[in-house]
Amino acid sequence: MINFDSKNRIFKLDTPNSSYVIGIVDSDQLVNLYYGSKIADTEGLEARSFRPRCASFSPLTNEHYTDSHDFSPDCAPMEYGCNGCGDFRVSALSIKNADGNTVTDMRYEGHRIYAGKPSAEPLPSVYLNSDSEADTLEIYMADRATDIRVTLIYTVFNALDAIIRSAKIENASQKPADIERAMSLCVDLPSMDYDLITLYGRHAKERSEERRPLAHGLQGIASKRGVSSHCQNPFAALVSENADEDSGEVYGFNLVYSGNFEFCAECDFSGTSRIVMGINPNDFSWRLEPGESFMTPEAVIVYSNAGIGEMSRTYHKLYNNNLVCGKWKTAKRPLLINSWEAAYFDFDTEKLVSFAERAKELGMDMLVMDDGWFGERNDDRSSLGDWFVNESKLKGGLGELIDRVTALGLKFGIWYEPEMISPDSELFRAHPDWCVHVPNRKPCIGRHQYVLDMSRKDVRDNIFDQMYSVLSKYKIDYIKWDFNRNLTEVACAKFPKERQGEVFHRFVLGTYEIMDRLTKDFPHLLLENCSGGGGRFDPGMLYYSPQIWCSDNTDPIERLSIQFGTSLCYPASTMGAHVSANRRTNYNTKKNVALWGTFGYELDPDKLSDEEIAEIKEQVKEYHKYYDVIHYGELYRLITPFENEYRAAWEFVSKDKSEALVTVVEIKRSFDNFFILKLSGLCPEKTYVIEETGEEFSGAFLMNAGINLTRKPHNDHDSYLVYLTEKK
Ligand code: GLA
Repeated sequence: MINFDSKNRIFKLDTPNSSYVIGIVDSDQLVNLYYGSKIADTEGLEARSFRPRCASFSPLTNEHYTDSHDFSPDCAPMEYGCNGCGDFRVSALSIKNADGNTVTDMRYEGHRIYAGKPSAEPLPSVYLNSDSEADTLEIYMADRATDIRVTLIYTVFNALDAIIRSAKIENASQKPADIERAMSLCVDLPSMDYDLITLYGRHAKERSEERRPLAHGLQGIASKRGVSSHCQNPFAALVSENADEDSGEVYGFNLVYSGNFEFCAECDFSGTSRIVMGINPNDFSWRLEPGESFMTPEAVIVYSNAGIGEMSRTYHKLYNNNLVCGKWKTAKRPLLINSWEAAYFDFDTEKLVSFAERAKELGMDMLVMDDGWFGERNDDRSSLGDWFVNESKLKGGLGELIDRVTALGLKFGIWYEPEMISPDSELFRAHPDWCVHVPNRKPCIGRHQYVLDMSRKDVRDNIFDQMYSVLSKYKIDYIKWDFNRNLTEVACAKFPKERQGEVFHRFVLGTYEIMDRLTKDFPHLLLENCSGGGGRFDPGMLYYSPQIWCSDNTDPIERLSIQFGTSLCYPASTMGAHVSANRRTNYNTKKNVALWGTFGYELDPDKLSDEEIAEIKEQVKEYHKYYDVIHYGELYRLITPFENEYRAAWEFVSKDKSEALVTVVEIKRSFDNFFILKLSGLCPEKTYVIEETGEEFSGAFLMNAGINLTRKPHNDHDSYLVYLTEKK
């Protein structure tokens, strides 16, 4: 719901539990008057919002110099802080104009409020299923000296505490201008009493939660790797100092973007916080010729006054309903077996068909042939870019293999790494200039490969055509889309020198374009994104690929922090998680942890013992039994590995609260084995039956008194499920 009070020039954006209030001051500058728990009135907000000036060091906006209303951008919560006109904090917008300076000053010109939401084309974006789901406010602003214009876009959900923000920058002048910073959001809060939560990591240890108090000055996270990266996820939350899973105030920020990003919080001399998030301004600039415009990625802001868990559940609902698209948004995901950890590069048709036969006996739905099927690819030193089958490995070609696999009643999936090129490949020999590089510099190499320049249309078309010829010929239901190194020496010969700052972003746009074409041409195709595990786990990718391989680390104990961290904003249905053969843990715990995600196997089924075969057949049944409660239910993190080194526990509750599945994993044996677990999210009045014991308890009992799990196994790496259903 969005209201405009035209007398006082105040916009009020309301979600079920939050209000976001923007004011227009006399000088036509926009200020952020309030963001927090829902309020009814807006009177008094303005008086509360402006901070004392820092003597003559807080400059006044010129035309009000003699006014009693001495507006200084230095002391105001600016709605979209611009560079160079008295607001000294980190800017949302900085444009280098034709005169070469970067002074930028946006003033209100008009607005429009409507039901529905625009797309962020050419970028992926949150979408609505019907216009009644959300309203949109567009505020039109202009720099009256340069005629650069900005539209601030806010989509406000009616049933979710979520606001989507973006900005469109247009050059309405007669001269070129260069965007140097264009953030997707800017939020000024009148306090710095918050903790900042972010998700840091590396290959095989993605998205660990890190929490620290805000301090004066700049703090934040970023990626300069060309992708969102293993190292920092484009997610951050500001939470009140005492916030936990179930209580406290939380602001979540997540960028719908897969390239270089920046999240920055700046706390100033008045003890206030400015938050900006968007494309990383490092190595970025964008030339706007007269009449051209630029769209920032969308940022998804979620507010919760009921703790971090509630913020996560809002993100999960939003992404399941309004971000993941196409057939696989609702269709049941196939239980797959992937060849990578089973065979690596060492396979042929017979081995894969034998995997498929065993997989069928075990009850699985799909065989995925991972890396190694194309060109001369027998290790990771060659052939990326040569997307035609290696017939010496796969005798009879893809046709014979796929016919034999699908004849068993299995679906078939295949691995690609479309944005990469091996120096030892036919493609590289034919087009040595197609990799991302700077002339006269030898590019860095990573995993023996270079990155293809996806900012070039000729390169994209070549890769798309190669993929199209395989996908249009064979019955392929799934692609694992990999990306195994980061970008270096970024430049593109196709663009003039004043446009080189665009290449990182154009690379991302190029990748999105191919994904868009493929998913439109092959709407049945399920994409699973991957980047050396979860190095590109972001909402931009989720728009095209409904699931993302969480991590190359399949050890279930190490997976706990990865999956707990990922779940801060990404739903279970998006988290690629498999049972694998290697490592130290038993199959029961591997299964219990992988059930949290899309579920599948990553092992050689020919090497399983009879006992393991029997166990896996039972696991497949459990996958079907619990699929709905996990994929469509709501997540409660009961004991997180970031706070408890001995034990982790989580719970899924169905939307109608008639069913709940609790998982407990003993990380390491605690000699304090008296263990009462309080559940969450149940209906207090309903009676629940614990399937295993037949015991009956009310929801209120389970949530307040808890269940006694003392007698459950509690050795290192033990785990168990507790399944409850409503008594009919
Ligand atoms: C990456 C992926 C793995 C596997 C290999 C293949 O590391 O994360 O799952 O696909 O590439 O080379």
